Amino acid sequence: MNHPPWPIPETIRWAREGTSALILDQTLLPGVFEEKELSTLDDFVEAIRNLRVRGAPLIGITAAIGLAALARQSAAERVTPDELRARFAGWADRLGNARPTAVNLLWAIRRLRACLDAADGTAGELAALLADEADAIHDEDRRMCRAIGEHAATLLADGEAVITHCNAGSLATGGIGTALAPVYVAAEAGRKVRVFADETRPLLQGSRLTAWELSRAGIEVTVLADNMAGSLFATDPPDIAFVGSDRIAANGDVANKIGTYPLAVLADRHGVPFYVLAPTSTVDLGAPTGADIPIEHRDPDEVRRGFGPLLTPEAARIYSPAFDITPHELVTGIVTERGIHRPPYTGSLAAAVAEAEAERRSG
Ligand code: MRU
Repeated sequence: MNHPPWPIPETIRWAREGTSALILDQTLLPGVFEEKELSTLDDFVEAIRNLRVRGAPLIGITAAIGLAALARQSAAERVTPDELRARFAGWADRLGNARPTAVNLLWAIRRLRACLDAADGTAGELAALLADEADAIHDEDRRMCRAIGEHAATLLADGEAVITHCNAGSLATGGIGTALAPVYVAAEAGRKVRVFADETRPLLQGSRLTAWELSRAGIEVTVLADNMAGSLFATDPPDIAFVGSDRIAANGDVANKIGTYPLAVLADRHGVPFYVLAPTSTVDLGAPTGADIPIEHRDPDEVRRGFGPLLTPEAARIYSPAFDITPHELVTGIVTERGIHRPPYTGSLAAAVAEAEAERRSG
């Protein structure tokens, strides 16, 4: 079977003949299922920055669709090709700075820029090429998620329990997710699988999003506050940990949602295998180690208030990194669309990225 028996939520789609996009507004979930239209550069930047769309692969897809939609709008104004190229540079700059850690954002923008640099034609023709490239990125992501799920499902036996952090599911991608992909693949094959979802302070991607998409798919999910994970590992440990990533350094160090590193430490302490699942578009060979990955720090009010009333006195200082680095020694394996990579990671990650690029070039 190549698609799940439940409707996976469409995270983004074209609207108005490809001059705007409709996103599922993830800030409203799980209470409200509502799409929001993005038409201007500010709309796209705001949606990425404020996590209306989030998850590294989906951030990249959104930027690509945004660039192409803006190019189509400019083409309708009959701008010259040179003017389109100049505008593109400004849009790419703003979008590329919307969130710093997810490397898929820069990866997708680089692909569209390369496509523009290699082409000649009218503004309309250039905009059409950009839209094709955005579609290609979206389609590839769907296929990469499926392949990651198939590889990683071989690590999962019938009846096993998975622990995950944040949301690296279908809501974070253009397909069935990364960390949750093997769960879906196993469920499609009729295997029973249970998931423990860390709540994921402060923005609750685990309780709001992972629990929403898994329960919608009929998969057993148990939510725990992040500080309860130690108790779970000590009393009834999960069989395996699957997490996603925003950026993987060349040596296999992993940036992912804040709280991933303590989960890896717990898994190590309790002998639970800890896997990172991500497409090759998340591997940044330009970052030799995790220390070279920029970490986003977010608005202190996300900790101070969360989604409701004041939880912390205004006078208190707030520490609020959005991501942490899990050193590669704590990672049992990294699953990309090209297979399961084992330590040492340097050679096999570089080879996987090179193979993915070669395959793309050969069409
Ligand atoms: O801040 P977010 O919600 O964008 O963080 C998302 C994550 O940390 C995910 O685990 C990661 O982007 C991988 S999504 C397939």
